Amino acid sequence: MKLLVIGSGGREHALAWRLFRDACPSKVFVAPGNAGTAGEAGIVNLPLANPKALADFAAREKVHFTVVGPESFLADGIVDVFRARGQKIFGPTQDAARLETSKDFAKRFMLRHNIPTAASETFTDAALAHDYVDARPGPFVVKADGLAAGKGVVVTSTLDAAHCAIDDMLVRGKLGAAGSRILVEDFLEGEEASFIVMADGKNILPLASSQDHKRIFDGDRGPNTGGMGAYSPAPVVTPEIHAKVMREIIRPAVLGLAAEGMPYTGFLYAGLMIGKDGSVRTVEFNCRMGDPETQPILMRMKSSLSTLIELALEGRLDQADAVWDHRTALGVVLASAGYPETPRTDDAIVGIPGETEEIKVFHAGTAAKDGQTVTSGGRVLCVTALGENIRHARKTAYAAVDKIRFDGMQFRRDIGNHALRTED
Ligand code: AMP
Ligand code: GLY
Repeated sequence: MKLLVIGSGGREHALAWRLFRDACPSKVFVAPGNAGTAGEAGIVNLPLANPKALADFAAREKVHFTVVGPESFLADGIVDVFRARGQKIFGPTQDAARLETSKDFAKRFMLRHNIPTAASETFTDAALAHDYVDARPGPFVVKADGLAAGKGVVVTSTLDAAHCAIDDMLVRGKLGAAGSRILVEDFLEGEEASFIVMADGKNILPLASSQDHKRIFDGDRGPNTGGMGAYSPAPVVTPEIHAKVMREIIRPAVLGLAAEGMPYTGFLYAGLMIGKDGSVRTVEFNCRMGDPETQPILMRMKSSLSTLIELALEGRLDQADAVWDHRTALGVVLASAGYPETPRTDDAIVGIPGETEEIKVFHAGTAAKDGQTVTSGGRVLCVTALGENIRHARKTAYAAVDKIRFDGMQFRRDIGNHALRTED
């Protein structure tokens, strides 16, 4: 059996690694992959990025099914291309992926289905957006409607900053077409968590909970990034919160999409804000797994991922059961110099420890050059470790981090702090 994973990040390295380990397929192709996937036995990188070329390849090689990692391919309709040709692919259609690709679509959808989220208004006219901000108490979060590679959300603490973010997007066109329509949203207080499920159009299988660290610096300071580290499970997602999220957010979303004629198949990610009062609100939907959340989640997965995907593709997720390692997994992202604004490339990486039962270093922005592994993107590696509790997982992960070197390496020293407070 051959499988295909699309993407090149840490999430895709983890997906390919998990699929190869538990399904024992003859091969897992990763398109385009990275230096980490290239170095794995049984995994083969493919220099392809075009949906039609990928579908041709999958047909020619008799690939059993394809899994899509990043949202960009889903936004381009890769699932529609494969499905039209009768080829198996796990991910939402272009229509259903609008939950992530248009924040305005997602917001209206949530309102139609009573899914709790922050109050917001959508604007294309800067003057109207400024009036809105002046008339409300704030603080505000200004969001580009379209995909903006993690740069589309500005959390503002002052009125001036909100006005400036509005002008950056609507007047100065800083984010291009993605920011030509914006949402001005009320700031939500609380603790964030990532809630990722698999859906087959009607049935839902929740995966283990997790928590990301979005800001670049310790103490949640500095600009937002794609994510600087994550752990699973997230203690903030108690059984009560879990039940509430399923009842108020996930089920209405999956049933609502089906009722609107765009049944959702694939990984669905709800970014949550959990209030001190136990309320849950949706910060965002993503139509894929999280990165870096995937790395600790899959490190804990004991079920066969390929069996779960197979069941989802057959509309039989109601018969699936996901089994998790009782231990905590924690991943620390090592990012390149200049990340997130202007990541530097071509720095040589040394000291990456080999895989053990407890440690796995997933690659993201890495490439092979002149016999060396070098940086080739913003987030470079995700050092992921299992431990009996968050403290142990963290100790093991950071001991591995300390062996790795590249010029300009940036990472947070406090991954897991929130959970540690719960453990104490
Ligand atoms: P998004 O791309 O919508 O997930 O936003 C990126 C990050 O911005 C989130 O993970 C939050 O940390 C923050 N954020 C977005 N919307 C809000 C909100 N309404 N209130 C507070 N923080 C937010
Ligand atoms: N780590 C956040 C995301 O994948 O969207």
